[in-house]
Amino acid sequence: MSSTRKRLFIKTYGCQMNVYDSERMRDVLAPLGYEPAEEPDGADLVILNTCHIREKAAEKVYSELGRLRPLKDEKAASGGMTIAVAGCVAQAEGAEIMKRAPVVDLVVGPQTYHKLPELIAQTHRARGEALDTEFEVEDKFDKLGNDRQVDGHTAFVTVQEGCDKFCTFCVVPYTRGAEWSRPVDQIVAEVRALAAKGVREVTLLGQNVNAFHGEPPAGREADGPWGLGQLVRHLALIGGIERIRFTTSHPRDMEEDLIQAFADTPKLMPYFHLPVQSGSDKILKAMNRQHTGEEYLAIIERLRAARSDIAISGDMIVGFPGETDKDFEDTLNLVRQVNYASCFSFKYSRRPGTPGAAMFNQVDEAVKTERLAILQDLLNQQQVAFNESQIGRTLPVLFEKAGRKDGQLHGRSPYLQSVHVDGPDHLIGRIADVRIEAASRNALTGQLVDGERSAA
Ligand code: SAH
Ligand code: SF4
Ligand code: F3S
Repeated sequence: MSSTRKRLFIKTYGCQMNVYDSERMRDVLAPLGYEPAEEPDGADLVILNTCHIREKAAEKVYSELGRLRPLKDEKAASGGMTIAVAGCVAQAEGAEIMKRAPVVDLVVGPQTYHKLPELIAQTHRARGEALDTEFEVEDKFDKLGNDRQVDGHTAFVTVQEGCDKFCTFCVVPYTRGAEWSRPVDQIVAEVRALAAKGVREVTLLGQNVNAFHGEPPAGREADGPWGLGQLVRHLALIGGIERIRFTTSHPRDMEEDLIQAFADTPKLMPYFHLPVQSGSDKILKAMNRQHTGEEYLAIIERLRAARSDIAISGDMIVGFPGETDKDFEDTLNLVRQVNYASCFSFKYSRRPGTPGAAMFNQVDEAVKTERLAILQDLLNQQQVAFNESQIGRTLPVLFEKAGRKDGQLHGRSPYLQSVHVDGPDHLIGRIADVRIEAASRNALTGQLVDGERSAA
């Protein structure tokens, strides 16, 4: 292995799993002497870890590649710059990327980035190109190991990958492959190693995280595959881990045991991201979500029965093919009934190769824009109301880093809200009680209440 220092710039697009993957790429490249750089200028290796979910996300990659071109030319005289495209655009477009953007040396899919060292060597040897977009998820986690570089006190941990749901709007089943869960012991080893490096909160990631069905730990083979509720309870036993979160869940995989975990596991934070996409049963059917609005609302009710203060978040799509004013009205009604703490909303984006793209009854762009504005107005009101409902309460806040202003700390409430307070740096990485005094759409502020708490 070479120990010469080289500069690595990674730009991450898309979801939290891409954030996790970027960190793991950095880990895999560290033994080769690659050190993270803040800017692409002068970097030896630039990786764009891309997202294919909506058209805009995918197009951003090509404009970024255009900007990298002159930087690569400048670097030619001093060792050269290798440009890699990773992530879901890499998976979806493969070799097409190198045709459309010859500046790219290497294309690597989300399941093969553990092979980056070989692939880079291959491009250097041949002064040519390399491409690897196989699906080998098992191999990947074995090769990655647990020696992660840790930036702070919170970390993402992928526990499940892929999706077999094939919602008719979505590219993920094509870019991330079939649904697959990591073995429990492998996850425990990774979380233990993180805890030893000062991580206090883990967010378990999966495209369908509540479909988790991992191989049980050694000695518990008779249990058969473990569900997410079992995994959460098990991880809650790890010393140092004070908070557990997970994302993203699908209504169809909602097991009672996971709902119960919110009642019996205090370290599981009272925040649930459960996308519904639409409130119209007709549209839900056309989307192949395989549940109704009523069924979704019944799950929310059960969650609230298990943990009355649970904050609900979601994702919504407006303007799916065939969506009428009445269907959109159903969406607004469902949103009113759920009363979201936060919710992402998007205009439907026609993705090549998905069934939705071929549907004949596409909705006008102007109609989508109008509906999105109406929906976001309602969701913003709900978010502000949820944040304001915390005023006067005392919340345990996990402090993650210094705030933007001097003497300020930034942390998160159990409900994932940003909290800013004035306080001493030694609270970073710890949980302390904060009395909430003010709220806006995006953050809470307040005062520390007598020092630090030992646990969540
Ligand atoms: N696995 C998650 C979602 C992954 S994609 C789930 O099943 O819910 C994240 C969000 O992007 C989706 O929830 C959806 O709201 C949105 N999205 C996905 N494909 C889209 C498309 N073609 N157009 C607009 N939004 C889309
Ligand atoms: Fe996409 Fe649907 Fe799978 Fe979520 S469940 S990743 S929206 S296909
Ligand atoms: Fe995007 Fe791939 Fe995540 S398409 S949302 S980066 S799984």
